[in-house]
Amino acid sequence: MKTVFITGGAGFIGSALIRHLMVNSDYAIVNIDKLTYAGNLASLASIQGDARYTFAQLDICDRAALDALLIQHQPMGVIHLAAESHVDRSISSAGEFVSTNIVGTFTLLEAARAYFNQLDDARKQDFRFHHVSTDEVFGSLAETGFFSEETAYDPRSPYSASKASSDHLVRAWHHTYGLPVLVTNCSNNYGAYHFPEKLIPLMILNILAGKALPIYGKGDNVRDWLYVDDHARAIHRVFEQGRVGDTYCIGGHNEKTNLEVVHTLCDLVDARFVADASLAVTHPHCPAAQGKASRSLMTYVTDRPGHDHRYAIDASKLANELGWTPQETFESGIAATIDWYLNNQDWVAQVQSGEYQQWLDKNYTER
Ligand code: NAD
Ligand code: DAU
Repeated sequence: MKTVFITGGAGFIGSALIRHLMVNSDYAIVNIDKLTYAGNLASLASIQGDARYTFAQLDICDRAALDALLIQHQPMGVIHLAAESHVDRSISSAGEFVSTNIVGTFTLLEAARAYFNQLDDARKQDFRFHHVSTDEVFGSLAETGFFSEETAYDPRSPYSASKASSDHLVRAWHHTYGLPVLVTNCSNNYGAYHFPEKLIPLMILNILAGKALPIYGKGDNVRDWLYVDDHARAIHRVFEQGRVGDTYCIGGHNEKTNLEVVHTLCDLVDARFVADASLAVTHPHCPAAQGKASRSLMTYVTDRPGHDHRYAIDASKLANELGWTPQETFESGIAATIDWYLNNQDWVAQVQSGEYQQWLDKNYTER
C-alpha cells in the first residue's frame, strides 16, 4: 500500500481531500496538522479508526518531527495544504502567515528533499511533492479576462504574498534540486465543513441566527466559486497524472459578485423555511421564521483594505490535458451547502463554541 502525507488535513479542503481519497484511492494517509483554530478533527470523524488513516499533530515548521515521520512512514508523495488561509486575518496579523506559509513550506521542502535524495531510483520516479495554492497570487482582474498558468504573479495581501512566496520556493526546489513538484492554483472553494469566517458559511450562519450580513464595500467584488469536492477530485487527478514541474489552474467558471452570492443564500434559506415549518422552531431568530426576507439583514460595512476586485480562472489546461471538469454547478453546490449547514448544527455549535479544540483529547488515541 502506498502512503501519502497530507498537510493541513484537518482544515476545510484538506479534510475534503482525505475523505475523498479514503473512498477513491487505496492510499494510506498520514494527516499532518498543527490544529490551529482552523483545524478540526471532527471533520474527519467519518474515517476515525480506519486502519489506512493516521493523524500526526505537528507544526510544519518542526523539521526534526517531519524528518522522523518521513522515515517512519516512507511516503510516495506529499500533498501540502497546511497554511494560514484567511485574508482578513493576514491583514490584522501577518506574522503567522509568514511563519507557516513561507517558513513552513521551506521546512517541508527541505525535509522532503532530504528524504527524496535517499530513495532508490524506482521510488524517486514515483515521488511527488504537490503544493496546493491559490489564484490570489495572480492579483486582481478588471471586468474581463481570466487567470491562467501563464499569468504573472502580482499578490496584494499579506496572505497572497505569503502564498506566492511559497509557490516560488516550491518551483525553485524543482529547478535547483530536482524535487518532483506539482503546483495547483485554485479559485474560491465552498461546501461542507467550511470554517464560518469565510463569506459563504458566515452568511448562512448569520442568516439562521438573525445577525447582520456584513458586505464589504459595494459588494461588487467577483469571486469564481468551486465546490470543495470538485477541488478534491482535481488535486487527486493532478497528483497522479500531472506533469512534473507543471502548474495547473483550477476553477469553477462560476463568477458571482458578493451581492449575488448573498442574495442567493438569503433567498434559498427563506424558501427552506417556507417548505419546512420546523425550521422556524429551531431557528427562531432567522427573519424567515417571522415571514420576513433574510435580505433585510444585509449591512454594508467598510471595505477590506486592498480588496482584490475580481478573480476568474481559465481551467482549460486541466480540462484538455487531464480531463478534469467540475461536477457541481453553483446552483447544485450552494443548495447542498445550505442543506449541510442546516443538517449539521452540532458541528456548527462545536466550531462556534471552540469545543472542537478539545475533540482531539476526547476522541483520538495513538495507533
Ligand atoms: P483552512 O484554514 O481551513 O485549513 C488549514 C489547515 O492547516 C488547518 O487544519 C490548520 O490547523 C493547518 N495548519 C495551519 N498552520 C499549520 C502549521 N504551521 N503546521 C501544520 N498545520 C497547520 O484552509 P483551507 O481553506 O482548507 O485551505 C487549504 C489550502 O488550500 C491552503 O494552502 C490555502 O492557501 C489553499 N487554498 C484555499 C482556497 C479556499 O478557497 N479556501 C482556495 C485555493 C487555495
Ligand atoms: O481565491 C482563493 C481564496 O479564496 C483562498 O486562497 C483563500 O484561502 C480563501 O479564504 C478565499 O479568499 P477570499 O478573500 O476571496 O474569501 P472570503 O470568503 O474571505 O471573501 C470572499 C469575498 O467576500 C471577498 O470579496 C470579501 C467578501 N466578504 C467576506 C467576508 C468574510 C464580505 O463582503 N463580507 C465578509 O464578511
